[in-house]
Amino acid sequence: MYGWTVKMGMPSVLAVAMVFFMIPGGVLSDMRGTQGLEAQQLAQGSTHLHRRLKRGWIWKQLFVPEEDPTPRVIGQLKSDSDQGESSIKYILSGEGAGDVFEINEYTGEIRTLKKLDREEKAFYVLQAQAINRWSNEPEEPQSEFIITVQDINDNVPQFQNEPYVSSIPEMCPIGTTVAQVTATDADDPMFGNNAKLIYSILQGEPYFSVEPKTGIIVTSWQNMDREAREQYQVVVQVKDMLGLSGGYSSSTTVTVSLTDVNDNGPTFQQHLYTFAVPENAAIGTTVGRIMAEDGDTGINAKMTYSLEGELEESTFIIKTDPVTQEGVILLAKPLDFEVKRRFDMTAEAVNDHVDTRFLSLDDFTDRTTVKVIVKDEDEPPVFLSPVYEWKLPENAAVGTVVGSVSARDTDTVNNPIRYSVDKRSDTTKAFKIDPNNGTITVAKSLDRETAAWHNVTVEAKETTQNHLSSSVVVFIKVLDINDNVPRLARDYQPYICEGTQAGELIQLLSAVDPDDPVEGHHFYFSMVPEKRINPNFTIRDNQDNTAGIVARRSTFTRKDRTQYLLPVVVADSGSPALSGTSTLTISVCSCQPAGHCPTGGVEALALSMGVSLQTLLGILFCLVTLTGLLS
Ligand SMILES: *[C@@H]1O[C@H](CO)[C@@H](O)[C@H](O)[C@H]1NC(C)=O
Ligand SMILES: *[C@@H]1O[C@H](CO)[C@@H](O)[C@H](O)[C@H]1NC(C)=O
Ligand SMILES: *[C@@H]1O[C@H](CO)[C@@H](O)[C@H](O)[C@H]1NC(C)=O
Repeated sequence: MYGWTVKMGMPSVLAVAMVFFMIPGGVLSDMRGTQGLEAQQLAQGSTHLHRRLKRGWIWKQLFVPEEDPTPRVIGQLKSDSDQGESSIKYILSGEGAGDVFEINEYTGEIRTLKKLDREEKAFYVLQAQAINRWSNEPEEPQSEFIITVQDINDNVPQFQNEPYVSSIPEMCPIGTTVAQVTATDADDPMFGNNAKLIYSILQGEPYFSVEPKTGIIVTSWQNMDREAREQYQVVVQVKDMLGLSGGYSSSTTVTVSLTDVNDNGPTFQQHLYTFAVPENAAIGTTVGRIMAEDGDTGINAKMTYSLEGELEESTFIIKTDPVTQEGVILLAKPLDFEVKRRFDMTAEAVNDHVDTRFLSLDDFTDRTTVKVIVKDEDEPPVFLSPVYEWKLPENAAVGTVVGSVSARDTDTVNNPIRYSVDKRSDTTKAFKIDPNNGTITVAKSLDRETAAWHNVTVEAKETTQNHLSSSVVVFIKVLDINDNVPRLARDYQPYICEGTQAGELIQLLSAVDPDDPVEGHHFYFSMVPEKRINPNFTIRDNQDNTAGIVARRSTFTRKDRTQYLLPVVVADSGSPALSGTSTLTISVCSCQPAGHCPTGGVEALALSMGVSLQTLLGILFCLVTLTGLLS
């Protein structure tokens, strides 16, 4: 009856124990088989404690196996003073007393009353008393002891953190960690193998294996190819009792996906692609699409296309459609069937992200042949020059040739062309065009001062087939001819104040001319030749297109004379030069008090003639008109 589990604790228990329980053949005896007891001892490593505490007093712990439905005696209390005449009454109190455990008050035998569950409650702390049945005096001091519920394997291991999902790159080396599965077992991990778990693979071999103790799943197959199989369901089983028969087990599924690596290069679907495009296709027109396939996905399937050929490179460009990964061939330069009818190119597709761990560099590139046929289209005529600009003098005679336009049908049939002037661009019908040879002539006399430019639209039209036409603008600049007489810039009304000194400026003059000489205007001012000898006024040309009327004497009075007429000649610098004469009326004014002539020459006249201002204005108007006519 060795191998009691040691109970350490309270001094009161210590004192009691000396009398109450004895070893060997202790009165608190274990009713279980010795075999089970030894196993328990080993599991708990209690031999060491046992040895150490032997010197003091020793207590036996009581054990009861869990899940045992049969009530049974598990131990006995006995006092030294118990002589067997039933004078001592044993009393049990504490956890489960009377409910789970009961004591025979005469014999001290302790028995279970019901099935116990270790996973619910692993031990019970109880108190024992021995009292004199007659006197109710304690025979022994109260003592405390423990009943331990002993584990049996009654719990199934459970996987934690389900579901398990994992992904690993395809082509990864053997031994790559995939996932770790973990199971727990509610049984006592310290007792036997009830909670000792072992993992194994039920499904997923030979690609995967599991570490029996840790539950770590690793790959066990070389070259797992995503393009062949993308997903695996690995079923792992866990067993308690170290996997020995009779234990419990459960299983879980780990979903393993292979992620893509770049282990495929592009491959063109066709060795030859042929496309046709009309010669008049606009730049940017899609000529065709080519496609290189790549078994990979995402970034590993991305590719860039390029074109090779002599002229072809610049005539066409290729771009990658970001959605379909197709190569889209676009027109980059105008085509001309009459110049080049066929283009032969090599197209290349290269993976954007090469990975030489899986393929050699060359395997990430593929080539194919692309032919583009140019289709002939009926095209409108083309002018030899995109724009025409001509000049002619404004005095050019009707019938004068201005210039010739020329257009050609670039198509192989080379249709004849007819020319015409767009009437909306030549509203005055100033020009004519020869419909056959495009020669433009003057149809009406021109005037630069009316229209300095004639921007005429000329149309060229094919006479047969689709009557295609195109047009060009002819800019005709009309050059200046000196055909306008210069005039004084405005209707001057000069006056001279009484008391003006000889040499004083009376009026500054300037002139205008509608002509537009290339070198600019230059006006000359002078007296009329036959009236050059004038004792009263002179004209001083300032050599800057202005001239001054200057008084020659100091004795002008209204009493003497109120008005003088002065003809002025203005000449331009044309070749030949043109000139005009204007006669100015110079009034004499009192200019009192401030030296001004408030109403110009009018006031002076009114005073001297004694007529109303209105009448005077009328007369003045007639005079001005007359002067205008004379000039
Ligand atoms: C164009 O044709 C007209 C006859 O319609 C002829 O007088 C003229 O000289 C020709 N011009 C040219 C440049 O051939
Ligand atoms: C004709 O073209 C010329 C040169 O481009 C321009 O200066 C002028 O204003 C145009 N005239 C008309 C009437 O369009
Ligand atoms: C100059 O003034 C005098 C005096 O008023 C006049 O008689 C003469 O006709 C004037 N000469 C001219 C050319 O105006």
